[in-house]
Amino acid sequence: MLSKKYSLGFFPTPLERLENLSKKYPDYNLFIKRDDNSGLASGGNKVRKLQYFIYDALEKGCDTIITAGAQQSNHCRQTAAACAKSGLECHLLLGGKEPQDYNGNLLLSHLLGANIHFTKNNRKGEDIESTKRELEAKGKKVYVVPYGGSNLLGASGFVDAVKELKEQLNEMNLEIDYIFFASSSGGTQAGLKLGVDLFGLDTKLMPISIDKVGSGGKSLDEVVLELLCDGKQSLGIVKDYTIEDAKLIRGYDNSGYGVVTNDERRAIRTLAKTEGILLDPVYSGRAFYGMLDHLENKKLRNNSNILFWHTGGLPANFYYSKELR
Ligand SMILES: Cc1ncc(COP(=O)(O)O)c(C=O)c1O
Repeated sequence: MLSKKYSLGFFPTPLERLENLSKKYPDYNLFIKRDDNSGLASGGNKVRKLQYFIYDALEKGCDTIITAGAQQSNHCRQTAAACAKSGLECHLLLGGKEPQDYNGNLLLSHLLGANIHFTKNNRKGEDIESTKRELEAKGKKVYVVPYGGSNLLGASGFVDAVKELKEQLNEMNLEIDYIFFASSSGGTQAGLKLGVDLFGLDTKLMPISIDKVGSGGKSLDEVVLELLCDGKQSLGIVKDYTIEDAKLIRGYDNSGYGVVTNDERRAIRTLAKTEGILLDPVYSGRAFYGMLDHLENKKLRNNSNILFWHTGGLPANFYYSKELR
């Protein structure tokens, strides 16, 4: 499963102790994994997945990439950057109507040279196949990166990431009891789970659900379980995965995808003011809100070591400027 990849980012990403925040919550030791510093047009978790997709696309002789997401999709912005760097033509299918002003990730995707198609109510790749046919009719050799980059190949990026983390933890002589992160299309979560089992880390994953709507008629737990079952075959993991292994932590996604409330704003400001680190309002800010709730309401073992996996998303702050003030 861990096939070859095209180098796109800065790895390993830093692993740091959150000194000031740990003082604020003295029952816990808090750490952060800085995938927001993974390079490539403001970084983020999707760079890890795209290294595999771009390699595969070039191997297959493709000249064009299609992927899909919301207008403020970090995944689409990072795909546009990956295409720019590897010389591929990029087509992004973004939900909603074309706005008058381009802002945040949408503006960056445009600057990175992507061809942008606005797909109204379809923000999860429903129009990928028809667009692919249109581009093929024009002679393009098209490679599809699925919604969120979440198939098994994309998840490989996060199997790798656990190996990277394990090496850092060994060097620091540290064990991590809980890892919090934002889970939305499932590839990050599935890859981390497969990696934790493959490399034998004794850590509990805490995937915070960002978007309560599933995709392709399935719940996200089902999507993750499918990836786990496929992944264990190729990685040789001897384990019977059940839906329990794929469960997301819900309740922080009640306002709906991309709806920014006081909870996300407070979470962003807390990390910004204590550590000088910026989250995003849709994904990492919401996941951090979930983690703060666990710390404040003592839902975790005392004295445990807790890692927040920062998955990036900075540009979306500029789109949500009104909600964040
Ligand atoms: C900043 C950020 N964090 C987390 C995620 C979730 O990753 P996944 O889609 O693999 O669940 C995304 C997905 O777009 C993202 O942009």
